Amino acid sequence: MAFAVKNLSASYGDTRVLWDVSLEVGEGEVVALIGSNGAGKSTLLGAISGLVHIDAGSVQYAGRELAHQAPDQIVRAGVVQVPQGRRLFGSLTVRENLLMGAYLRDDKEVKADLERALELLPRLRERFEFLAGRLSGGEQQQVAIARALMARPKVLLIDEMSLGLAPVLVDQLLVIMEQIHKSGVTILMVEQDVQTALEFAQRAYVLETGRIILSGPSASLLNDPSVKKAYLGV
Ligand SMILES: Nc1ncnc2c1ncn2[C@@H]1O[C@H](COP(=O)(O)OP(=O)(O)OP(=O)(O)O)[C@@H](O)[C@H]1O
Ligand SMILES: [Mg+2]
Repeated sequence: MAFAVKNLSASYGDTRVLWDVSLEVGEGEVVALIGSNGAGKSTLLGAISGLVHIDAGSVQYAGRELAHQAPDQIVRAGVVQVPQGRRLFGSLTVRENLLMGAYLRDDKEVKADLERALELLPRLRERFEFLAGRLSGGEQQQVAIARALMARPKVLLIDEMSLGLAPVLVDQLLVIMEQIHKSGVTILMVEQDVQTALEFAQRAYVLETGRIILSGPSASLLNDPSVKKAYLGV
């Protein structure tokens, strides 16, 4: 059940931001999308999630066409985003934020999934009745990840997980992401921290001013002279 974006173009009003973008994430794979500020990474995740207008192209998962579907339909199909900047409900508690992640579900396993999320992220159990807006940046990122898990993702889109966090916190989050991956979730990770992304993902795509300019196994991108020069400061 590969996840595939094919020849996708997207825009905000009259301003086109993405041109003919194609990428694929195999079942169970971890793929990174890297690129400079303003390249269009978040726009691509927004288009996949049904939040940004798609002008042309398609988004396919598990034999279904997701382009032009409503955001809730895309979540129901198993494609769930952890947005850049976390976008928590700051005046709601951690518990309430997590339950928001399950708002589309009517099955009886929400409680069991909540318990599973708290086992994966024990810090959130300690913070369960705290207002999300009062938590540290690292804790807020954990809430955003756990909220996405509550929607039972098959494909997790995570946007700038490491932004603004100390390296030690990023390492902790990567351990958590590894566990999520091992539980069978396919991951598309958008990162401005290119080193971290290429060490974590198996493959990566480089987006530059709205176009994919390079892709390949992470190891070869780490050694690519143009990647080193543009993104690794070497
Ligand atoms: N809501 C919007 N309306 C109009 N233009 C937008 C909107 N959001 C983003 N843009 C523009 O689209 C382009 C791509 O932005 P986007 O946020 O997708 O880039 P990004 O690669 O995620 O950057 P960053 O690393 O800063 O998160 C930028 O030129 C940005 O100014
Ligand atoms: Mg972004």
